Formats: sequence, C-alpha cells, structure tokens
Amino acid sequence: MLSASDNELLTRVGAGTPMGSLLRHYWIPFLFSWEIEAGGAPSRVRLLGEDLVAFRDTHGVAGLVAERCAHRGASLYFGRNEDGGLACIYHGWRYDTSGRCTEMPSEPDDSQFKDKVRIVSYPCEERGGIVWTFMGTAYGPPPPLPALEWLDLPESHVVAAKRVQPSNWLQALEGEIDQSHVSFVHSRLALSEETREGAGRAFADRIKKLDKHPRFEVVETPSGICIGAGRRAEHGMEYWRVTQHLMPFHIMTGPYGEDPMRNWRAWVPIDDTNVFVIGLSFHPLRPFTGEERERMEARSGVWTVSPEMRAPATSAPFGAWRVLPGLDNDFFQDRDLQKSELYSGITEFWAQDSAPQITMGPIFDRTKEHLGTSDRGIIAVRRKLTARVRALAERGERPPEPSAPDVYRVRSDALLLRPGEAWFEASAERRKVVADSNPDCP
Ligand code: FES
Ligand SMILES: [Fe+2]
Repeated sequence: MLSASDNELLTRVGAGTPMGSLLRHYWIPFLFSWEIEAGGAPSRVRLLGEDLVAFRDTHGVAGLVAERCAHRGASLYFGRNEDGGLACIYHGWRYDTSGRCTEMPSEPDDSQFKDKVRIVSYPCEERGGIVWTFMGTAYGPPPPLPALEWLDLPESHVVAAKRVQPSNWLQALEGEIDQSHVSFVHSRLALSEETREGAGRAFADRIKKLDKHPRFEVVETPSGICIGAGRRAEHGMEYWRVTQHLMPFHIMTGPYGEDPMRNWRAWVPIDDTNVFVIGLSFHPLRPFTGEERERMEARSGVWTVSPEMRAPATSAPFGAWRVLPGLDNDFFQDRDLQKSELYSGITEFWAQDSAPQITMGPIFDRTKEHLGTSDRGIIAVRRKLTARVRALAERGERPPEPSAPDVYRVRSDALLLRPGEAWFEASAERRKVVADSNPDCP
C-alpha cells in the first residue's frame, strides 16, 4: 500500500513533477528508425506529457521538436520537410533538428529576428534500429546510451514492435515485475503442445502449473532490481526465473529452457494516463530465420499484437500501434473458452495483462491495495523509484545509472537448481553479457 502522496509522486510524469524530473535524466526509446524517412512526413509524438514532432531531415538526421511553431503556435506536424528543416505551413518559419529557426520568409530579408527564435528540441540518437531521445537537457548534456546488449546486434537478430495502453505507466511496469500472475491470467487449462510452443515453454508451463506460489527474492543491483521467482520443479529440483528491472522502466524477462533468445522491453509514459511498451526479442548468436521472424511478428505476445487485433493506424501520437481489444468490448473475452481452455477467456496474450491493468483505473489508487508475499518485486522496485525521486527532489542528487551505462550490460536468466542453492549466486555468470558469445556480429 502507498500513501496518496507517494502514489502521486510515482505516477505523475509531466514537466516539473518529481517523477517527471527523474525520468528526464534517462534516455527514452520511442520510435523505430524506419518510422521516419529522410525528407518524409513527420510523426506526432507525446512523451512525458509533452506534445512533440519527430522528423528525419533531408540530410537523414533524426530530430524531435516541440509540436507548436514559435510564431503563432500552429502544429509543425503539417510542416514541409525540406532543405534541412521542418517548415511551418502557416508562414514558412523553418526549424532544424536542434530547434533553431533557420528561415523566416515572412520577415524582411535583412531581419535578424530568426536568430533569436528557437523551439524546444531534444537530442536524438539511433542505435539498435531505435530512435532514442534525452529530454533532460535542462540538467546538462546527454549521457551515453545505456549499454544494453542488443544495441549493437544487426537488425537480422532482432524482432521488435510497440503497443499503446491507456493506463498509467507504473501499473504496466508493475505487471512485468509480478511473476506470480503467469500461473493464473496467462495459464491454459490444458498444458501447451510442445510442437507449437517449443519444449522450453512447455516445460515452463508445467512448472507454473505444478507450483502456483513462487517464492520471491529480490536483490538491489547497480542497474535496478533483480527478481528471482522460485518454483518447485520435477525430480526434486527448483526452477528459478530471474527478471531484471533496469532503471527506470526497462525489463528483461528470463529465457525459456536453454534457448539463448532473450527479451527486452521499456514501458514509456506517454502522459499520466497512457503508456506504450516498446519491446524486442533478440538472438545474441545468430539471425532469426525468415520463418521464426514471421511467426514472432504474427504472434500475440507481451508487446506483439496479432494482425487481426491491431486497430487501423491513425496519425495521433503512436497511432500506428493501437489495438482493438479494450474496455468497450470487454477485451473480446470468451466465456466458453474460459470454461474449456483459457483461465482468462481472453485470447490475446498481451490483453491478458492489459485487461487487469486497465481495469485498475487510469491511475491506480494504491492506497486501496493489499500486497502479499508474491508482491516483493513490486515493493522493491517502488522503493528504488521512490528513493531516486526523493534524492533528486529533496537533495538534488541525480540518479547514478545514466552516467554508468555499463550497468545495463546484463541478462535475465532461468535455471534449474537443487533445493537450497542460491539463485542469485548460481546465475551470476549467466547474467553477464559475454563479449565473445556473439561471433556472427560485427
Ligand atoms: S504559425 Fe508557424 S510560421 Fe506562423
Ligand atoms: Fe503477463
């Protein structure tokens, strides 16, 4: 349970709020590089409550600037992307990716006025096929990008997507940290077929059914919180899934079996009541085959949506990543299926998460909750976030992770152990990113 004031502290993300200030110290992944073309149409973006426009200028440089023109406030989304800048269609004022006004054709030729005009712009960097932005320029120059393992993988090793969700960011992030829900909302009444889902996943399904009360242990790490969820397994062994929370909103969940394929996601606040997840699966050792890629892109996962469940694209911020199931259609819950096959009666995997999270309300009131022992991971992450927010707001202490990008070079894990073996120690080597395990990559 949180006090009303702590709940406000953690959930509000606008400029000037304590959490909004903290989040602005970290790089934010928000767009796939392919979503903006050189000299092509801009894209509306809303991040941490700010309305922005992303575009790739005619030289190929990605930029993120305020949506409103400095002249009289018209939207630059409708702008002309030409000659190294984005020109407002109202009177032609043109801005480059750094927000400088470079052309002011409505003023006399000898006017110096344009040199005094700027719009807000945030620096962008592109790595791993993703455009990242740093919205904390008021606090100083951008730090290096977090050194996540997959940033340097070729595109052929990665399958990525996004999804928008109408809820506060924290209840979505907490859904990822909570590993006990998988035994319920994601479970099938019969075990999954090995042929379709793979032996590793079928094994994990069996374990989740065998033991629905995982023991949770948390360890604070330099990057965030490492969460171990241990379950009784077959033949007297214990199965531990190790989830990495990386500050502030990154999650890496464990692999299935010995498959080296791994997952990463970030839960990025659009504003106080909307969040998007940007996620990817990556194979550190080899490219995905065409068949694997097709299957993963068409499959309903935590962040991937079945093609028939995607809403028609709009030009709203992240409007290409909206979904059909929602509160107004009860997430297409099927009561017959709930009796015969699926615990939740909801077919889309991500909607099994999204339905409970959205029904908590736009910003969940945590003064009303009752946390149990299975919520240890959630409690630990909230404590870490609260400590970082308070350190910044009350003592001016900036979070340490952005200036130590190598703390992000970690992996999640899943392993079978003998009873009494310590999961954190046993997974220590396996959680390290091994440089030479990646022979195919440059
Ligand atoms: S409002 Fe943009 S140029 Fe006038
Ligand atoms: Fe889930």
